[in-house]
Amino acid sequence: MSHPSTYKPASGFDKWLDDRLPIVRLAHDSFVDFPTPKNLNYWYTFGGILAICLVIQIITGVILAMHYVPHTSMAFDSVEHIMRDVNYGWLMRYVHANGGSMFFLAVYIHMFRGVYYGSYKEPREVLWMLGVVIYLLMMATAFMGYVLPWGQMSYWGATVITNLFSAIPLVGEDIRTLLWGGFSVDNPTLNRFYSLHYLLPFAIAGVVMLHIWALHIPGNANPTGVEVKDVKKDTVPFHPYYTVKDSFAIVVFLILFAAFVFFNPNGLGHPDNYIEANPLATPASIVPEWYYLPFYAILRAITFDIGPISSKLGGVMAMFGSILVLFVLPWLDTSKVRSMRYRPAAKMFFFIFIAACLVLGYLGGKPAEGSYVFYAQIATAYYFSFFLIILPLLGFMETPKPLPRSIAESVLKTPKAGDATTAGAHNAPAQ
Ligand code: HEM
Repeated sequence: MSHPSTYKPASGFDKWLDDRLPIVRLAHDSFVDFPTPKNLNYWYTFGGILAICLVIQIITGVILAMHYVPHTSMAFDSVEHIMRDVNYGWLMRYVHANGGSMFFLAVYIHMFRGVYYGSYKEPREVLWMLGVVIYLLMMATAFMGYVLPWGQMSYWGATVITNLFSAIPLVGEDIRTLLWGGFSVDNPTLNRFYSLHYLLPFAIAGVVMLHIWALHIPGNANPTGVEVKDVKKDTVPFHPYYTVKDSFAIVVFLILFAAFVFFNPNGLGHPDNYIEANPLATPASIVPEWYYLPFYAILRAITFDIGPISSKLGGVMAMFGSILVLFVLPWLDTSKVRSMRYRPAAKMFFFIFIAACLVLGYLGGKPAEGSYVFYAQIATAYYFSFFLIILPLLGFMETPKPLPRSIAESVLKTPKAGDATTAGAHNAPAQ
């Protein structure tokens, strides 16, 4: 939250610089003395984890770009060259490829955390919307990155997804031609995807800075959803409390990351992508990366025309709508209580929502036929109902549990016998 600066330049040079460019002051006030709610749990470490993911992707990506050749006749071989001939090329590639998956794993946890604790509610709507922009940019970046190795899945995935745009009335065909740079997925497509795949991570970095700026205006929310009332009692300085907590979480996360890179580096990929792209041979099934599967299931769940809207256009609208609805989430949730910790009904619907997303993810990897489509339709209906019906109505209908008066009270509250859910009960002084 906005607080008076506590930075004191330690040397003559520090003072000289501070008078001209107070960047050390900014870093100090934002990441050293920043008053942070004292009750943040490990779900709040994923923002820091995401920042590390972005740095890892940029560093490994820049190194890969030194050896990769964005031409349809050489792209596939240049990736094999990176894997076999370039010193530690295999490591750079496996870290970058699995890094994409780890990035999405972290962002999904970060977003679900935001929904559970109502982090998007006033005054953090813009912070949340910037997050949704980051997420969209991440989706576009990862999609274009996957095309670069020019394997079968690269080529056919790109063909399926770019063709979706042609369903848009009037301008659809033109958009598709623009994306292709011609009349099919070919060398110009690979070139523009490479250019944009290199560019977008820096755009993400820019939006992340705005995201952190918007975070630092009201400061972090916290698991109780109760705002800071007394800075002295409710907060601790960011350093060392959260620098240490975040670092620990980052190390644990990196161990999981390393387990994939060193023990199962192709486990999350599709074997067909080790076959060079062949426009004359369509793979038996075209499956996107796991992090797109729920949206792929939503796309294919619309198998019927809705009035003048064809099933194809309906699917495209549902797929984009499932992400765009997140932009208006702060206004769809009408509850005055921020955290679902105190909203028993919302909590139940939230866990069903997570189940629906997992079911959609599973079905996205299955062929679009028979009962798979039927279940995807049910899960899609729940996905939209959660945002458009349940959250708006629940705010008026649900009786929340009593809120703690302050963060300090919730942390220090002495548990009553049998009260296992009391927040921070383990911190209570021994009786
Ligand atoms: C590169 C991607 C991202 C980075 C580096 C990032 C970084 C951060 C950081 C460092 C924090 C503070 C610590 C924490 O609460 O975890 C934060 C908070 C937050 N982020 Fe993100 N974020 C990213 C993506 C997103 C996305 C995709 C969304 C939602 C669509 C989002 C929504 C939020 C919200 C609402 C908060 C405030 C949490 C609170 O105060 O309760 N972020 N983010």
